[in-house]
Amino acid sequence: MYEIDDAQLVSCTTNGSVYAVDHRIYIDEELYRQEQSNIFGRLWVLVGLESEIPNPGSFKTTYVGERPVIVLRDEKSAIRVFENVCVHRGAKLVRKNCGTAKSLTCLYHQWNYALDGRLIGVPMPSGFPASFKKEDFRLSELPRVAVLAGLIFAAYDKTLPSLEEYLSGVVPLIKEVLRDGEIELLGYANHRVKANWKLFVENTVDGYHPALLHKPIQSNRMQASYRPRAGGTCIAFVNGHNVLKFPTTVVDEKTWDPALDLPSLLCKSRDGGWDYVMNLFPNAMLLLLGDMLLVRQLIPRGVSAVDVIAYDLAYKDDSEDIKRHRARTVGTQLGTAGVASVDDKYAMEAIQQASSCSYRKTLLLRGDPEARDGDSNEEFSLRGLYEAWGRALGILNKGGIPAQSQQII
Ligand code: FES
Ligand SMILES: [Fe+2]
Repeated sequence: MYEIDDAQLVSCTTNGSVYAVDHRIYIDEELYRQEQSNIFGRLWVLVGLESEIPNPGSFKTTYVGERPVIVLRDEKSAIRVFENVCVHRGAKLVRKNCGTAKSLTCLYHQWNYALDGRLIGVPMPSGFPASFKKEDFRLSELPRVAVLAGLIFAAYDKTLPSLEEYLSGVVPLIKEVLRDGEIELLGYANHRVKANWKLFVENTVDGYHPALLHKPIQSNRMQASYRPRAGGTCIAFVNGHNVLKFPTTVVDEKTWDPALDLPSLLCKSRDGGWDYVMNLFPNAMLLLLGDMLLVRQLIPRGVSAVDVIAYDLAYKDDSEDIKRHRARTVGTQLGTAGVASVDDKYAMEAIQQASSCSYRKTLLLRGDPEARDGDSNEEFSLRGLYEAWGRALGILNKGGIPAQSQQII
């Protein structure tokens, strides 16, 4: 039934459902360059949290794809996103990770910019021709900035629909999990994975692997068998976004072996409910797993590496004890040296390392190939991801695939 065609980067059934991708998409420099323009240089991309820049003059620096950007609040408290480049000779303008400033000054020839991007200061002005006017120059600004539940997104494409239209059906879940932005940033847990950025997205929304890849370490730590989570669902939304949803695992603290001193999956803040893993294409993830609440921002670092910025969160009204517990749990599970992170890193890097083999297919066959949702350990989410990716790069023909409302890519 499935013909694996070596020429195809993305293989689809007759109605456009993806069932295989070629490993060239993890190693090809030209595809990577196209992703930078057609995906990161166009779509809504996560750049940080509102609470990172609380006051007029607060700024942070980060990246949209490979392009360095400054995210700041101007004097009127409006959030702006500028390319982090001086308009004179193109030096990176701000080199700190974050801070507060009244204006921005380039280190090289000290051209100076107001927080709204205007060029306001040029040293040794008498040496410039009479036709040179500061008012003709300003920082390169991304035309679109939007905030949703405390998350800041920016986009290069002026014509893109609103952020909420782009995120479509995932919006209510984002608002629910982030309580409309009533969140507090506890800290960061950043790490680099030597794998293509799409492998990180795949891994995050891959509900098939947790009970298998993570089984040894989880069994040790929980001193119990670790089984696939039952009762979960996986939904592929339009535009490459996905949600995995499953019942929260609640472990009774009284049954814990204190000698282990490992909080692992112990859930203290709630008695049940749902866990969520969301992928907001292309570079954002929102996870609520037991007491772990975190947002991830991906920054591609060349075709075979990705930086993962993990924002470790709590709810504003959490007790100090719960905040500590959330931070500790993230640290042991999903932080830089968290047990799940290390397992996942090995798996992603294993794919990257084998990507140049003559056999080079990733098969995405679990679950009904024509469905958009199903059990959380099936592969709907990955198929939806690659449908959007293929469309964004013009590899998949939009005409052959039934259009869905709010479909942008
Ligand atoms: S490069 Fe920035 S002032 Fe010259
Ligand atoms: Fe994992």
